[in-house]
Amino acid sequence: MTDADRTHDIVVWGATGVAGRFVAEYLTERYAPDDLSLAVGGRSPERLEQLVSDLTGRSDAWDDVPVVVGDATDPESLRAIARDTRVVCTTVGPYTTYGTPLVDACVEAGTDYCDLTGEINWVREIIDRYHEAAVDAEARIVHSCGFDSVPADLGTLLAQSFAVETFDAPCQTVRIYLEGGSGGVSGGTLASFGEVFEAAATDPLARQTLRNPYSLAPPGERSGVDPGEQRRPRRDSLRSAWTAPSPMAPVNERVVRRSNALLGYPWGREFRCTEVVPTGDGLTGAATAGLVAVGLGAFTAAMSVGPVRSALRRYVFPDPGEGPTREEAEAGHFSIRVLGRGTAADGPFTVEVEFGADRDPGYGATARMLGEAAVCLATGDVDSPLDGGVLTPASGIGLPLAERLRDVGFTVSVGEASDTRR
Ligand SMILES: NC(=O)c1ccc[n+]([C@@H]2O[C@H](COP(=O)([O-])OP(=O)(O)OC[C@H]3O[C@@H](n4cnc5c(N)ncnc54)[C@H](OP(=O)(O)O)[C@@H]3O)[C@@H](O)[C@H]2O)c1
Repeated sequence: MTDADRTHDIVVWGATGVAGRFVAEYLTERYAPDDLSLAVGGRSPERLEQLVSDLTGRSDAWDDVPVVVGDATDPESLRAIARDTRVVCTTVGPYTTYGTPLVDACVEAGTDYCDLTGEINWVREIIDRYHEAAVDAEARIVHSCGFDSVPADLGTLLAQSFAVETFDAPCQTVRIYLEGGSGGVSGGTLASFGEVFEAAATDPLARQTLRNPYSLAPPGERSGVDPGEQRRPRRDSLRSAWTAPSPMAPVNERVVRRSNALLGYPWGREFRCTEVVPTGDGLTGAATAGLVAVGLGAFTAAMSVGPVRSALRRYVFPDPGEGPTREEAEAGHFSIRVLGRGTAADGPFTVEVEFGADRDPGYGATARMLGEAAVCLATGDVDSPLDGGVLTPASGIGLPLAERLRDVGFTVSVGEASDTRR
C-alpha cells in the first residue's frame, strides 16, 4: 500500500479524552483542511460527534472533521484505522492496558505512530516485540512525544548537535534541570502512573526495566557506565546549587540513552545523562532538596504497597476523563535547562539549552508537542537516519520538531554557556 491510498494524514486516536481533545483542538487551530487531512477517533460515536461539533464551532476553517470509530480491545478495528492513515497519534492510555494492539496494527500496516506514554515497562515490551518488525515495515513508532520526554530528549539533541558543530566533540555528560513548572494532572495520567507501579509489583521484567538505567537500549546493549537516576539531594558542581531527584528522571533519562543507542552512539558509549530538580543554594536549597527527595520517596513507597495504591486510585485520584480545563491547560508554564559538558581539542566546554513554554506542561504544551510530532511524521519533516523502528523523539523525528515548537511560541535556545567554560 502506498501513502497515496490512505485517506487520513493523521488520526487523533483517543480524541474524546483529556489530552486527545487538546491535541485535536490544537491541530484544527493551527492547520487548515488543505494543509492536513485530519480525523478524530475513539470508541464512542456520540462523544466523537459532540467533539466534532465543538471543533467546527470554534473554527472558521474546518466545516467537518471525519470520525473513525473502533475499540482498543478490537484489533480488527485498529487494523482498519492503521491501513487508512499515515500517522496514528494516540492518547488512549494507560498504554500498558490499551496500547499494544494499536502498535501491532501500525507495524503491520507500515503506519507511523506517536504517543504520550511514560510507561517504560510497556515501552520495553514494545521494543522487544516490535522493533525489528517496525524497521522492516518502515513504520516509525515514536513513543513519549509529550512532556515526557520531548524537552529532555530534544534538549539533549540540541546540546549535542551544537557541541559537535561548534567544538567538534559531543558532550560526555548532560544534566537536565527541571527548573520550573506549574500545571494540572488528569485521571488518565494518574491511571497510567498506577499501571507502572502495578507492573512493578507483579511483573519481574517490569521491575528489571525500572532498575536498569539502560533498559530501553537495544537488546545486548543494556549496560553501561551511567549509574542511573539521582535518588538523594546532591550539591551540583555545574551550578553550585543543590538538586533533588526528578520524578520524571526514570523515563526521560532512559529515553535519552535509547536515542544515543539508536543513533549509533554519536555521543559515545560513556555518555552520561542525569535529570534533577534544582533547589537553590545554601541551607534553604539543601532543605528543599531534602524535602523533595523525602516527598518523592514517600509517594513511591506508598504507591508500591498494593492496598495503599488501590485506595489512592479509588478514592483520591481523579477518574479517567477528568483533568484540566481548556483555560487551565492554556495557563501554567515549564522551563527546562540542559547543561552539557565535553572536551574539545583546546579544553573543556559547556553547552546550555533552554526549553520551555507558557502553557501547562502536561496538557497545553503537550498538545503542541504531540500534535507537531504527528505533523512532522505525516509531512516527512524529520531529520533522522531511521525509517522505522521503535523510536524516541530525538532519534525518530529530530530537530525539525524543536523548530516547529519554537515557531508556536516555545522557548528553544542553545549556545555556549557564558560563565561555565573553564
Ligand atoms: N507525557 C505526558 O506529558 C502526558 C500528558 C498527558 C497525558 N499523558 C498520557 O496520555 C494518556 C491519556 O491521558 P488522558 O488524561 O487524556 O486520559 P483520558 O482522559 O482517560 O482519555 C483516555 C482516552 O482513551 C479512550 N479509551 C479508553 N478505553 C478505550 C477503548 N477500549 N477503546 C478506545 N478508546 C478508549 C477514552 O475514550 P472515552 O472518552 O470514550 O472514555 C479517552 O478518549 C495517559 O496514558 C496519560 O498518562 C501523558
